[in-house]
Amino acid sequence: MDRYCVIGHPVAHSKSPWIHARFAELTGQALRYDALLAPLDGFADAVRRFQAEGGRGCNVTVPFKFEAAALASELTDRATLAGACNTLVLREDGSILGDNTDGAGWVRDIEQGAGFALAGRRVLLVGAGGAAAGLLGPVISARPARVMMVNRTVAKAEALVAAHQAWADEHGVQLACGTLDEAGEAHELVVNATASSLKEAAVPVRPDVLARGALACDLMYGPAARGFLDWAASHGAVPRDGLGMLVEQAAESFLRWRGVRPPTAAVLSQLRTLLE
Ligand code: ATR
Repeated sequence: MDRYCVIGHPVAHSKSPWIHARFAELTGQALRYDALLAPLDGFADAVRRFQAEGGRGCNVTVPFKFEAAALASELTDRATLAGACNTLVLREDGSILGDNTDGAGWVRDIEQGAGFALAGRRVLLVGAGGAAAGLLGPVISARPARVMMVNRTVAKAEALVAAHQAWADEHGVQLACGTLDEAGEAHELVVNATASSLKEAAVPVRPDVLARGALACDLMYGPAARGFLDWAASHGAVPRDGLGMLVEQAAESFLRWRGVRPPTAAVLSQLRTLLE
């Protein structure tokens, strides 16, 4: 049976084995998917060993996504833009293709799950860390009118925007960046890609960044997303957490490995019930 795994440190909390087992069931694919704890200084060895044992692919989670990009022999465009990989295809000839399905999964959750078409919209992306970096390329691919990236440390937003400028020009998307105070007003989609909720810090932007009825997303789920989402709802926005992204990025990985797109709606609602 073909083998896959999620590699991280820690990894025991990961929902990926459960999600991929559901996908395998729903698509009739025979595969095994485990969680693999790698030592902090042993990521590459763990991947190589898994590959040598016949492993066909892995998901990569914190803190190894950047190391995964360095390990890959070849990267997809979206992984190159993100500078990080959450998905590796382990080929029989020993080579490794690195991909990043986080951003595409998030866009799919927003467009299909929340029913919000990104084309022509004004988007505010708050944060410029690893999570925000994974989102920017796929968000641009969906052709919003404008993407503004703001961050506490503005230099990180400037660097990410500069790295994506050619991609944005190609897609006819206006890109801008600034400090948290420069976020401006009335965005139809506001995304919190900061770790501020985790740290129980105040929401890092003012409520006037939200257009009336805006969609407001946090990339986290559960209690970590609550601060931002409650704030957004109290200012008239429609809140959405990151659980749909978790399921959709898994579906994109499954598609990359198996050539079959698994259905996600029932898996997401089951997962939500499990976590309640
Ligand atoms: P991740 O991989 O989850 O994105 P990260 O790379 O450490 O994690 O990035 C964390 C993001 O949250 C950054 O944008 C960070 O801002 P800085 O680049 O200025 O550090 C942001 N962040 C963390 N705590 C914050 C806070 N209290 N207020 C505002 N932004 C915060």
